[in-house]
Amino acid sequence: MNILLTGGLGFIGSHTATVLADYGHHVVIIDNLYNSQKETLNSLRSITGKVLPFYEGDVRDLPLLKRILKEEQIECVIHFAGLKSVAQSQTNPLEYFDNNVGGSIALLEAMQAINIKKLIFSSSATVYGAPQYLPYDEAHPLQPINVYGRTKLQVEEILQDLSQSDDAWSIVCLRYFNPIGAHNCGLIGERPQGIPNNLMPYLCQVASGQLPHLNIFGDDYDTKDGTGERDYIHVMDLAEGHAAALALMNRQTGFEAINLGTGNPVSVYELVHAFERSIQRTIPRIVQKRRSGDLPIYYAKVDKASRLLNWRAQRDLQAMCDSSWKYEQKIRAVL
Ligand code: NAD
Ligand code: UD1
Repeated sequence: MNILLTGGLGFIGSHTATVLADYGHHVVIIDNLYNSQKETLNSLRSITGKVLPFYEGDVRDLPLLKRILKEEQIECVIHFAGLKSVAQSQTNPLEYFDNNVGGSIALLEAMQAINIKKLIFSSSATVYGAPQYLPYDEAHPLQPINVYGRTKLQVEEILQDLSQSDDAWSIVCLRYFNPIGAHNCGLIGERPQGIPNNLMPYLCQVASGQLPHLNIFGDDYDTKDGTGERDYIHVMDLAEGHAAALALMNRQTGFEAINLGTGNPVSVYELVHAFERSIQRTIPRIVQKRRSGDLPIYYAKVDKASRLLNWRAQRDLQAMCDSSWKYEQKIRAVL
């Protein structure tokens, strides 16, 4: 299939590009480089051995989108492009609604105009909000507790309305849990700008000496060891989930929302210990007070993905830590 990846040079998009190219799909990328680097394109070309046409541009640029969809004979779009910082979304909500919701509307308009009606959307576990029960299944109430989560929920609602207005649409919202890890070759991975907010990139920067110690945000939660528990998923497993969703879209139309996680909650200490095995050293750490807005624990029920996509995460926590560390070492060597 000819597939357009919006935001395809970012963390999840780039890994998905390698998997789709491996499956023989023709992958085209549009990215405005807001949170990615053009060198990633060279890495993708060297990993896949394919050209992968690239357009530097914004998904809110309707004429450009229409031109790409037409000229590249796109059959399906995977919409990764978006902003993802919870903290920034709270201080700059308009930017987040404009990019995440406005960008999605522009993309949908372009797709509708060219009559392309297959879409995979990058949604997030954040749409669920405070757990009313765990694990979250897809029927759990949707009550996001931050602006970022509300942008994702609004797009999901638009997509559901669109699919109801025209039954030719085939739309899959993938609700990602906590993606970490990197491609085995170490050439692509997660590269946040500035001081990372998320645990794995922070750990990597402590290990490589960029940051002095890890702050553990609370060890007094009612969890297995007092630290927060999350459903970390290897980004390559996540990438393969997109290939499985493509297959589903070829079998059915309509709207589906599907969790992509492992179903296993892992504590901060468990992740730190696994990471220490990867680097064969201890990580200096200081327990701090809880981070505001954090939930003690959340993880996915993964039965729907298993049933509809015939997909399950395969890689374990050690593989996630080993590959993250491999990528961190590669980028530190070239910086
Ligand atoms: P990322 O920031 O690494 O990638 C997003 C890419 O989109 C970047 O390359 C950025 O330059 C590009 N982009 C942003 N706005 C754009 C625009 N208007 N036009 C064109 N390109 C634009 O993020 P990621 O971690 O790869 O996440 C991909 C998607 O998955 C996002 O929509 C994010 O909200 C969602 N998601 C991510 C996570 C996570 O933990 N990484 C979890 C749940 C959902
Ligand atoms: C955060 C986002 C979520 C997003 C996800 C992507 C918030 C409130 N939520 O989730 O919307 O989908 O990233 O992966 O920002 N921790 C530390 N020290 C650190 C960093 C984190 O102890 O330096 C702890 C946190 O308290 C939490 C766990 O590690 O218990 C995971 O944190 P993080 O990686 O930021 O992910 P989430 O909070 O799940």
